[in-house]
Amino acid sequence: MLYIGIDLGTSAVKLLLMNGAGGIEKIVSREYPLYFPEPGWSEQDPRDWYTQTIEGLKELLADCDKSQVAGISFGGQMHGLVILDDRDEVIRPAILWNDGRTGRETDYLNQVIGKEKLSQYTANIAFAGFTAPKLLWVKEHEPENFARIEKIMLPKDYLAYCLSGTFCTDVSDASGMLLFDVEHKCWSREMMEICGVKESQLARIFESYEAVGTLKPELSRELGLSETVKIVAGAGDNAAAAVGTGTVGDGSCNISLGTSGTIFISSEKFGVDQNNALHAFAHADGHFHLMGCMLSAASCNKWWMEEILKTGEYGKEQEGIKKLGSNQVYFLPYLMGERSPHNNPNARGTFIGMTMDTTREDMTQAVLEGVAFALRDSFEVAKSLGISIERTKICGGGAKSPLWRQMIADILNIKVDIPKSEEGPAMGGAMLAAVACGEYGSVEEAAARIVEIVDTVEPIPENAARYEERYQKFRQIYPTVKGLFEVLQG
Ligand code: XUL
Repeated sequence: MLYIGIDLGTSAVKLLLMNGAGGIEKIVSREYPLYFPEPGWSEQDPRDWYTQTIEGLKELLADCDKSQVAGISFGGQMHGLVILDDRDEVIRPAILWNDGRTGRETDYLNQVIGKEKLSQYTANIAFAGFTAPKLLWVKEHEPENFARIEKIMLPKDYLAYCLSGTFCTDVSDASGMLLFDVEHKCWSREMMEICGVKESQLARIFESYEAVGTLKPELSRELGLSETVKIVAGAGDNAAAAVGTGTVGDGSCNISLGTSGTIFISSEKFGVDQNNALHAFAHADGHFHLMGCMLSAASCNKWWMEEILKTGEYGKEQEGIKKLGSNQVYFLPYLMGERSPHNNPNARGTFIGMTMDTTREDMTQAVLEGVAFALRDSFEVAKSLGISIERTKICGGGAKSPLWRQMIADILNIKVDIPKSEEGPAMGGAMLAAVACGEYGSVEEAAARIVEIVDTVEPIPENAARYEERYQKFRQIYPTVKGLFEVLQG
């Protein structure tokens, strides 16, 4: 049989067709606009997601045996607020995971309600990108929109709703709303009350590998698929990527270098980091995970290449970078503020350390290193919890760069395993669909049978030693300039 994984990303939707043995038959991708209506804000139109997904499905299915397609599932950008009215119309553009407008609401939740209570209710504290602070923002700034809300959804759940008619979500994505009691896998009464929402406005919760329904008859006709095609809950993109790279079970690690940068640690047991610096979320394999998320990772490099250097030749720009570990220039990658571990929507991108002999290569190197150093910040939190990580998988667009992979290995001083496919979320989505359709007995079984590691990048001891010194300098920059970010924001 054939399975479709839909990765609803921030710059594009990627659709992947997988066969029953886990082989990738075809991948297509469709872009849609991303809007920054004010500095630090980030929005998209959910109808663009839907239109491009349907167009993408048609292209994906163009020359395959459509009768073989058994299931469709998702990996979706997390935390986005999608609100529908009583006629299922989208009320306002979706407010995305990297939107920083909710500084005040986040402070209210963390300081007035209190982190301890939030953690007790949900296993997490408030971060600007999470869904609950966005609901409070809409309530305060757009009361007429808030009053019209009939359904509150996450991005990929909007697609699942359009495809199946089921108002659903999954445990991994729900975890990032700050409305979900992660330990008990149910909506939190207390959080609903704090945000002024009713349970009827929230979706029915599924495990990621459960079918929520079947394809709507009119869509099955339009796409030429059977009406029995299962629509499967899917997962937040990081949990889906973890499935796609085989990061399941206990103590496995995955790094995703996409628009965001994440470090994801799977765990069989529920557990919360005492300071809540890492997110404690449910995993798509039925268990749990800890995660640190930086808001701008590969997007920093994209910004530097395309907006500043005005080039698309990423490989060529990296060719001249030879001296790993000995750059005088540092870059703070906080182009959209920062989530883990600083939780500061006012943080901004910063270059420091340039002299008259600084070269273009030094600046490019600093951007790549700054992202790896910022990932190390979350890695350090994990280490401080007694979690020992010796190796990680890697996925996302940034993972295509051998230079960046080496930097990650050197800066974190761990082995980096390269999976055959770096299509994390789309692959994970297809695998979840295959599990729901009975092709595999569990997510773990699917991962064990499908995911193949084709290479391992070892840390180079001399580089790791030089980077250790540089990291100790890097970590002093943010606390030193932090106060300035507040001044600059007025
Ligand atoms: C995770 C997060 C990002 C988005 C990116 O908490 O906000 O990784 O899911 O799509």
